[in-house]
Amino acid sequence: MTWTPSSWRQRPAKHIPEDYPDPAALAAAEARLAEFPPLVFAGEVRNLKEQLGRVAAGEAFLLQGGDCAESFKEFSADNIRDTLRVMLQMAVVLTYAASKPVVKVGRLAGQFGKPRSSPTETKDGVTLPSYRGDNINGMEFTEEARLPDPERLIKSYSQSASTLNLVRAFSQGGYASLANVHEWMLGFVDRSPLGAQYHEMADKISDALAFMDACGINAGNVPQMAQVEVYTSHEALLLGYEEAMTRVDSTSGDWYDTSAHMLWIGHRTRQVDHAHVEFCKGIKNPIGMKCGPGLEPDELLRTIETLNPNDEPGRITLISRFGADGVEAGLVPLARAVKQSGRTVVWSCDPMHGNTTTMNGFKTRPVDRILTEVRNFIDVLTAEDCVPGGVHFEMTGQDVTECIGGAQAISEADLSSRYHTHCDPRLNGEQALELAFLIADKLLGVKEAKTMTTRVAS
Ligand code: PEP
Ligand code: CO
Repeated sequence: MTWTPSSWRQRPAKHIPEDYPDPAALAAAEARLAEFPPLVFAGEVRNLKEQLGRVAAGEAFLLQGGDCAESFKEFSADNIRDTLRVMLQMAVVLTYAASKPVVKVGRLAGQFGKPRSSPTETKDGVTLPSYRGDNINGMEFTEEARLPDPERLIKSYSQSASTLNLVRAFSQGGYASLANVHEWMLGFVDRSPLGAQYHEMADKISDALAFMDACGINAGNVPQMAQVEVYTSHEALLLGYEEAMTRVDSTSGDWYDTSAHMLWIGHRTRQVDHAHVEFCKGIKNPIGMKCGPGLEPDELLRTIETLNPNDEPGRITLISRFGADGVEAGLVPLARAVKQSGRTVVWSCDPMHGNTTTMNGFKTRPVDRILTEVRNFIDVLTAEDCVPGGVHFEMTGQDVTECIGGAQAISEADLSSRYHTHCDPRLNGEQALELAFLIADKLLGVKEAKTMTTRVAS
């Protein structure tokens, strides 16, 4: 079968709604989308792929983060700005610790659709279809809201375009200069109850910047000090939308999904002969794939072969999500198989989706489990002589109370106070930054151990 943007329609597909009341209206919305301008450009996508190629080689580090599900309700300039601010601060800390450039990829400007563990939800004896993301249906628990509505596709395109526009303005317009990000980070260290723990690293970063400034390296003459590059990503779930956004690049003649720079395949839709892998096969964007419990090494290798037959560096990012206690058993066989096959991949760690529990009726995640999973991921891959290339977080810049623990010691009882997520619990701004400092510590430890080994060996 030859690939086309619509060839996925011939394959079994999970988690794509089939209950649109008016299929003609859906087709009309998709046809309108196909006429809309692309959100990203092929050249940018190629740049990201090249940078991910460096991550695979251990020369850069990947930071991917943002909402579990963007929503129409939480859409505001402040929200976008605050998430970006936190990501940039995390990136500075990680850049310092890893001594590598950090490739920044947001889960934003298109991260709407959600695969759900159950197709229905029951409350007080009433059963309705589950909420599936604001681009499909509404969260309100009414029959009407839960019906898929094609107009939501148009609205999510428009929200994605505005979000991306603001991200581009913030990152290129001077707001995100290294000096500003550094100031914000110092503010966090002063505020945090565990700030003393981060002071040493923060001071070293301050010293490094002061030294560069004294050498005449500053935002006035070095563009990298004044601007940042932020890429976008989301789960390629709703393939009708992705198909409509897929265009031929006039420079290369290749197909690109112009809805985001990077797309990923979720844990529930990664079957190698199904629709989602089929769609991703033909687009040239970097592709992520969640790797979690149940994924066999053979199946993973077949998927890599299908998605990246020419072993292009930066094309595949494998996102491990086994839960804090499952990393060793889950990741080792996969890492070994990939290493043995000689395939080039980025290994990244999503420490969120394997650590979800319910407390007081709220879905939550303990910050210490999240940190433990990242530490285990780094240890396991380092021991296997593979590169722990990046991290993938669900986070927001807002002061929400969705994940428990951290320096603010958010407790079970606090969850109800500011629980705003439309889907999974996110790290709040302070928790996310705290984690960046703690992961940075771990990366510094690994770096020191490597230096020691090299010294002993020579
Ligand atoms: C997600 O990233 O929001 C998600 C649904 O993850 P997973 O596919 O790993 O469960
Ligand atoms: Co999620």
